[in-house]
Amino acid sequence: MAQIFPRYANTLFRVAIVGAILGAAGIGYAAMILVRSPYFTRAEDAVTQPVQFSHSHHANGLGIDCRYCHSSVEDAAHSNIPSTKTCMNCHSQMWVGAKMLDPVRESFKTGESISWKKLHRLADFAYFDHSIHVTKGFGCASCHGRVDHMQAVYQKGTLLMEWCLDCHRYPEKYIRPRDQVFNMAFKAEDLGKTQEQLGRELVEKYGVRSLKECSTCHR
Ligand code: HEC
Ligand code: HEC
Ligand code: HEC
Ligand code: HEC
Ligand code: HEC
Repeated sequence: MAQIFPRYANTLFRVAIVGAILGAAGIGYAAMILVRSPYFTRAEDAVTQPVQFSHSHHANGLGIDCRYCHSSVEDAAHSNIPSTKTCMNCHSQMWVGAKMLDPVRESFKTGESISWKKLHRLADFAYFDHSIHVTKGFGCASCHGRVDHMQAVYQKGTLLMEWCLDCHRYPEKYIRPRDQVFNMAFKAEDLGKTQEQLGRELVEKYGVRSLKECSTCHR
């Protein structure tokens, strides 16, 4: 019987099949890296806001507490962005002529709020609640990074499921005393302990559970 394919075709086919499998795996792998990259998770994106508000100047330089502006973060699921009135508590007297503050004064006059762009946007099908995290002893800095050093805030964590789960599995790696939640610079070493020691103590003291059930976040 005449051979339709030359003998070396077998080898060629094998090479092609293996190549296709490896190629598909490669594309899958690249896609996996890509969806976790800052481009997709929007982590560390810089955003241009209507007013160049600096956390570094206000929170660090002037030492204003996070709660002065984000007043609902301890009691509510969502933290709030402050209203223009909060800014005007100071800026009706300070920097009254500065061009940078035009949109703030305009908003105060018209009563129309400043359209701040929202940076953190969790997937709709995942449930998050600030208050429980804050009351159980998790600091703003553990999830948001050193906001007090940021000229323009950016999203520090990926907000992906594995990011949440890392802490839900091992809360002892991040927990701190409740009265240190708003202290951006807190380190366990300040109390003469390692995070491991302090973490174990506080998890016990505050009765922190490790919540890994799907229904915790997908309801
Ligand atoms: C003087 C008021 C003020 C203080 C104090 C302040 N913030 Fe803000 N914060 C704002 C404003 C206004 C925005 C929205 C504009 C922006 O993104 O810069 C914001 C945005 C944020 C965002 C991003 C929200 C989003 O998803 O769009 C985070 C996170 C945040 N602040 C955390 C903190 C933390 C942590 C502290 C304390 C260290 C703090 N802020 C102190 C006014 C304040
Ligand atoms: C507790 C008082 C206080 C509050 C509240 C406050 N500011 Fe300021 N702000 C200041 C002071 C003081 C300066 C000058 C800071 C400096 O020179 O370091 C300033 C400076 C600024 C500047 C000039 C650029 C810079 O950061 O130095 C902008 C813009 C600004 N503030 C916007 C806002 C907005 C928007 C809000 C409301 C979300 C706000 N501020 C709330 C006190 C305040
Ligand atoms: C356990 C992690 C975690 C901690 C601790 C935490 N945050 Fe958040 N924060 C988030 C997540 C996740 C979002 C996005 C929520 C969403 O999109 O529904 C967010 C969003 C925000 C926003 C935007 C408004 C909103 O609710 O969508 C502000 C402002 C904010 N956080 C401030 C703070 C401050 C101030 C603290 C410290 C008291 C703090 N956060 C502590 C995880 C955390
Ligand atoms: C830095 C640590 C940490 C991170 C990051 C974190 N969590 Fe949590 N979360 C906790 C702890 C601790 C608890 C409370 C456990 C307990 O009740 O004892 C909790 C509780 C919860 C609850 C239960 C609320 C309730 O009312 O029962 C939800 C929902 C939740 N987290 C969602 C999330 C989601 C979604 C993310 C990611 C976007 C996230 N968490 C990131 C530590 C964390
Ligand atoms: C601590 C909170 C938390 C828990 C517990 C949790 N998830 Fe998620 N999950 C999230 C968040 C936040 C997202 C959205 C971000 C993302 O896509 O990773 C998500 C996304 C998903 C997605 C979308 C696909 C993906 O990976 O993007 C699926 C499917 C999912 N979760 C299934 C589950 C299942 C099944 C469980 C239980 C074994 C579970 N989750 C437990 C927070 C959680």
